[in-house]
Amino acid sequence: MKRIQVKDKTFEVTIPAEVIAREVRRVAAEISRDYAGRRPLFLPVLNGSFIFAADLMRELDLECEISFIKLASYQGTQSAGEIREVIGLAQDITGRDVIIIEDIIDSGLTMAHMIETLEHQNPSSIRVCSLLVKPDAIKVNVPIHYRALDIPNDFIVGYGLDYDGFGRNTKDIYTLIINP
Ligand code: IMP
Ligand code: MG
Repeated sequence: MKRIQVKDKTFEVTIPAEVIAREVRRVAAEISRDYAGRRPLFLPVLNGSFIFAADLMRELDLECEISFIKLASYQGTQSAGEIREVIGLAQDITGRDVIIIEDIIDSGLTMAHMIETLEHQNPSSIRVCSLLVKPDAIKVNVPIHYRALDIPNDFIVGYGLDYDGFGRNTKDIYTLIINP
């Protein structure tokens, strides 16, 4: 099996590029069918979803728009704990059919927060499309309308996903096997 080193850790290929491409095409066909004639607005969440979003868009047979967003994390000065704000949403989403594009849903907390924030802006619908889902790690109830692949509760990198900022630029997806 093909291995890569990302910083101090070793990863092994678990999802080859051909499998990713096949599942991305399947999801794109489902979305194209469901949104025929509706002009949805895709909101990919940076950084992790940039490669998935680029591949998915090219497989869609739809009139649609795309606008990238990001979750900024910072420590609040007043309340304890992390505050996460959606940034980069320049577009008015009122009355739009929005599809959030994520790289991976792990606990689901990021997506739950994202949906809640976007709902305040009164889109006519919100759906979630995630490249990967870790079903055994989910802690909150989030709707996942489209998913390319379910994976075990392991740490992965590649095809946009990172370990400490590195490892995003691969065609395959790799799983952590040696964690020194
Ligand atoms: P959640 O809020 O726990 O669902 O976390 C989702 C975010 O955690 C994703 O958008 C990723 O940025 C990151 N993440 C979760 N699992 C992995 C992984 O296995 N590899 C890389 N990033 C991950
Ligand atoms: Mg992410």
